[in-house]
Order: sequence, then C-alpha cells, then structure tokens
Amino acid sequence: MKVAIGCDHIVTEIKDHMVEYLKEKGYEVTDVGTYDKVRTHYPIYGRKVGALVATGKVDLGVTICGTGVGITNSVNKVKGIRAALVRDVGTAVYAKEHLNANVIGMGGRISGVGLIENIVDAFLEAKYKPTEESEALIKKISAIPVSDEAITNDHIFDEYNKKWDEGYYHD
Ligand code: RB5
Repeated sequence: MKVAIGCDHIVTEIKDHMVEYLKEKGYEVTDVGTYDKVRTHYPIYGRKVGALVATGKVDLGVTICGTGVGITNSVNKVKGIRAALVRDVGTAVYAKEHLNANVIGMGGRISGVGLIENIVDAFLEAKYKPTEESEALIKKISAIPVSDEAITNDHIFDEYNKKWDEGYYHD
C-alpha cells in the first residue's frame, strides 16, 4: 500500500518517526515534508498529501501538525479528500469503515507517538464497509463544490512564500 505523509515544523520528528515506522511495516511511503524544524505553513503540506491521494498516486494519506487541526483542515480542501482529525483508535476505524476516509490527521502535541502509531495502524488496516446510507452520505459530501486548483496548481502559495522569504511575516 502507498501512503503519503506530511507535517509542519512543529512535529517533524514525529513525522520522520512515522515514515520509518511505516516503511518497516512494508508500506511504500511518500514523505512530502516538511523536512526540518524551520518555521513553515501547514497548508503547503496538507495540499501536497491531498493532491497525491486525490490523483491516486498513493492510496491513503497521513497529516500531522501541532494540534492536527490546521493541516487536516487544509487537506480537506482538496477535491476528493475525506480527512478525519482523530485522537483515538475507535474514531480512526469509524472514519474508514463508515466514511471511507482517505486521510487521517493527528496532533503531535496532543497525542503521544505510541497513540499515533496505533491510530495510523488501525486506520490503514481498517476496511470501508459500504452501506446504502454511507454511500449516500459520501455522495452528498462529494457534491459540495470544491476547486480543482488545489490539485493542478503547484503555485498556489508562491505569493505567500515569496513574501515569507522577503521577511514580510514575523512570528
Ligand atoms: C503551528 O503553526 C501550529 O499552529 C500548528 O502546528 C497546528 O497546531 C495548527 O493546527
């Protein structure tokens, strides 16, 4: 199974740990970054994970930031993504079994590494259990319009990144 994983600078070491953890388990992992602790913006990595999942280049995605909120909200903006921000194994399994979620999100400052491992394991191993009701719900979710641009335009953040490099933003 192919899995994409992305994070922001707050939790890089947790993402790196998960990359190795998943590789050891035999998953083919695409690490979209971030790769260091230099301050960055989580929407960049949420979008990257989402684009890989939405285009079928990978099967599933994993998103991690401090709380999980920012990056998981971002990945959900990509057409075709159903991402669930979770804090427990049961919700992760529910998200896959009932909503056919294709990205799992977690907060590295909220959940410990052991729990994150357990959540990701459970999510990747769980199987969607389609019912008439779940199919209808997913259809309705998919009917809410979103833009294709998140997938096709790799330059969405160019303007912000340029300003960032020029020192326009400050912590
Ligand atoms: C840092 O940018 C922090 O806001 C982020 O990691 C996350 O917690 C947002 O939801």
